[in-house]
Amino acid sequence: MKAVVYDGPKSVSVKEVPDARIERPTDALVRITTTNICGSDLHMYDGRTDMQPGRVLGHENLGEVIEVGDGVDLVKVGDIVCLPFNVACGFCENCNKGLTAFCLVANPAPEIAGAAYGYADMGPYNGGQAELLRVPWADFNCLVLPPDARDLQRQRDYVMLADIFPTGWHATQLACVQPGDSVAIYGAGPVGLMAALSATIKGAGKVMVVDRHPDRLRLAEQIGAIPIDDSKGSPVDQIKQLTGGMGADRGCECVGYQAHDPQGQEHSGLTLNNLVQSVKFGGTLGVVGVFTPQDPGGPDPLQKQGKVPFDYGMFWFKGQTMGTGQCNVKNYNRQLMNLIAAGKAKPSFIVSHELQLDEAPQGYENFDRRVEGWTKVLLHPDGRR
Ligand SMILES: NC(=O)c1ccc[n+]([C@@H]2O[C@H](COP(=O)([O-])OP(=O)(O)OC[C@H]3O[C@@H](n4cnc5c(N)ncnc54)[C@H](O)[C@@H]3O)[C@@H](O)[C@H]2O)c1
Ligand SMILES: [Zn+2]
Ligand SMILES: [Zn+2]
Repeated sequence: MKAVVYDGPKSVSVKEVPDARIERPTDALVRITTTNICGSDLHMYDGRTDMQPGRVLGHENLGEVIEVGDGVDLVKVGDIVCLPFNVACGFCENCNKGLTAFCLVANPAPEIAGAAYGYADMGPYNGGQAELLRVPWADFNCLVLPPDARDLQRQRDYVMLADIFPTGWHATQLACVQPGDSVAIYGAGPVGLMAALSATIKGAGKVMVVDRHPDRLRLAEQIGAIPIDDSKGSPVDQIKQLTGGMGADRGCECVGYQAHDPQGQEHSGLTLNNLVQSVKFGGTLGVVGVFTPQDPGGPDPLQKQGKVPFDYGMFWFKGQTMGTGQCNVKNYNRQLMNLIAAGKAKPSFIVSHELQLDEAPQGYENFDRRVEGWTKVLLHPDGRR
């Protein structure tokens, strides 16, 4: 099969690799029709993880089941399914608690809880930026989509259930967003925009989204959020001005450890510290942007050890609360699917490009450089678009 393979920093290529296949009775084999490039893939693409060259990328996957193992009861050949980016067993202690991002079985590394498709340190699973994908514990991991998901147009919405729509929702859950709240969101990438959509669906009174890319800020504005351009002045001041000087009720961090100033200089603690400043005393923060225990490619000695200069004193002084981590996609994907099916959520508003698999290297390059107009890239390995 053809697949997008990680070659090394700033380099991916489309290669012939051995076909994905059923390896255990509980597996399903999925022919991928839509798969996305994610901001999380860029941490690997930038050489800022220990991703091994030769591995297949892709954790935002949707396609048709073409084969199931003998132990699969619920999922049927012909079903159109969306796969949470987490690979989870469904029966361990953490999966039972709903912590599917921290499954105790799926990752063979004893010191790591949690697994994902095509991701550094997240187990041996190949990604779905490929013609075929092996889905372990298929009955647990497959979200069977409604009939309209056969339509490629509708897949543009449903594919966001693999990661970024649930992850944006998770940011607002961790931040305890309630109807009427004001919410400050750092990052207008796909995840920040999904957090803005989620806050809006939850009835937030005022949603403010910080970034410096006009195309991304325009998308925030398009769904009724207030765009805040941090290249034009302090985002903290702008948010305080919009919230009577107090700061927002809630905050979401949707950037991660590669946060940088508008000139491009990286400071891993920048968005966390801005968020603490932007949210009021007693406020709550949801941090879904990725931070890593080590960052050997990081720009300074502290960062290489995964240590973030965080203004803990101010955070403590303000009595804020913070929730963090990978999204447990299974907790939200069915309900969010129902919102899409009912026409009440259209996460596809961020899609800018739909490419064939062979065009993936160009997609990676442009999305990584945040070239104007490249806000979310979908790949169609079956050649349609
Ligand atoms: N927790 C999870 O389960 C989960 C899931 C998916 C993605 N993520 C992470 O979420 C983060 C965002 O993902 P994405 O796909 O939106 O990525 P992205 O890289 O496309 O978007 C990040 C955005 O942040 C902006 N930004 C950079 N520095 C900033 C700053 N100081 N202030 C404000 N904005 C700033 C960039 O301009 C960019 O638009 C990444 O770290 C990704 O790995 C986490
Ligand atoms: Zn993703
Ligand atoms: Zn588990």
